[in-house]
Amino acid sequence: MTRPIFIAPICTPFVARLTPLRNVTRARPSSSRRSSHLLAVSAPDRPSTDTASLSLPRNSRNEPWVEQRSRPRRNRKTDGMRDMVRENLVLPCNLVYPLFIHDETHAEDIAVMPGCQRHSQASMLREVGEALALGVRHVILFPKIAEDLKSNHAHECYNPDGLVPRAVAAIKERFGSQVSVWTDVALDPYSDQGHDGVVSEDGNGDGGCGRILNDVTVDMLCRQALCHARAGADIVAPSDMMDGRVGAIRDALDADGFTDVSIVAYTAKYASAFYGPFRGALDSAPRATSRAPQNKRTYQMDPGNYREALLEASLDVGEGADMLMVKPGVPYLDIIRALHDNTDLPISAYHVSGEYAMLKAAAERGWIDEREAVLETLLCLKRAGATSILTYYAKQAAAWMQGSRR
Ligand code: PBG
Repeated sequence: MTRPIFIAPICTPFVARLTPLRNVTRARPSSSRRSSHLLAVSAPDRPSTDTASLSLPRNSRNEPWVEQRSRPRRNRKTDGMRDMVRENLVLPCNLVYPLFIHDETHAEDIAVMPGCQRHSQASMLREVGEALALGVRHVILFPKIAEDLKSNHAHECYNPDGLVPRAVAAIKERFGSQVSVWTDVALDPYSDQGHDGVVSEDGNGDGGCGRILNDVTVDMLCRQALCHARAGADIVAPSDMMDGRVGAIRDALDADGFTDVSIVAYTAKYASAFYGPFRGALDSAPRATSRAPQNKRTYQMDPGNYREALLEASLDVGEGADMLMVKPGVPYLDIIRALHDNTDLPISAYHVSGEYAMLKAAAERGWIDEREAVLETLLCLKRAGATSILTYYAKQAAAWMQGSRR
């Protein structure tokens, strides 16, 4: 659709302008003019060998001259100029801060994600307050659930006294509408199979394994979303990739009066190796003891697929999603752009745990400048089309952004 518009006004005059320029260039170095130029060159500048024929033409001041009118560098010549023409900015208000929580009274470092912790309720509230002071107004919660509360049907996911509802209520009580609380809607932290869905008892899946039951899972997701909404969640974010869950959750919320609770759909969530550190942090990876395969490829998307993301997007839009998420972030910039260009909803990007861990690891070794690399990464996610960015760097990046020029 954009093609004819693009070709007509831009290319036609461009070609027309190029043609005479080319002619001039070709006609200009006629032997007499060129040699007169060269004769005028002062001694120190004069090429000593016959490389003379390679030297550039000279301007009236006898300086080398690449004869061109367009010089894009003019718009990059000063800080002030660059600031004026910069097309995208990433600000603390674009960031969503993921927080890991557990049902303990202490905070615990996560080795594979330096700088991240599994928070107690007290340290979570402190972290939210610090983020808020830096302008980060959105947090998303990920719980580490005690082993004895896990089951195949993940019933704990809608326990109104569970870890997530208590955390949501505590944040809302302390910070009210200053902070938007997002919750992850999926079964994996609660599943003794380590899957985002309920695993069938049969062996009808890949290699005689169990299958992930779509509609049974969606039923649980609706209860979970409702439970989070009742606790005060502002936004629920289904990350499970079951079919039809956005519409079902929308209906469940609306029927219970939660028409103002938003749904950010993990629209294009790929079966990615970059979730490794996250799964370690929550002990949520598919289990070796699971009846289902030890990967999530029957529900998360194949990294080779682009058009399938458009299909997922059109379904989520139709089912009433308020925002569409792409995950992971940087390896999937083309998908962010695709969703941005093909829908009218805001796009969210998840800069996931593996992306965070790679930056941290390289920075710790002194191989990259962490601040520059992180701010560039976030800016590039924004440029690709994401207005909100979930990143474990949210607080640190917001601190770097204070008073900094991008
Ligand atoms: C699970 C979920 C995952 C992440 C967010 N929600 C992991 C997975 O799908 O296995 C990954 C986030 C990250 O890696 O930072 N529903």
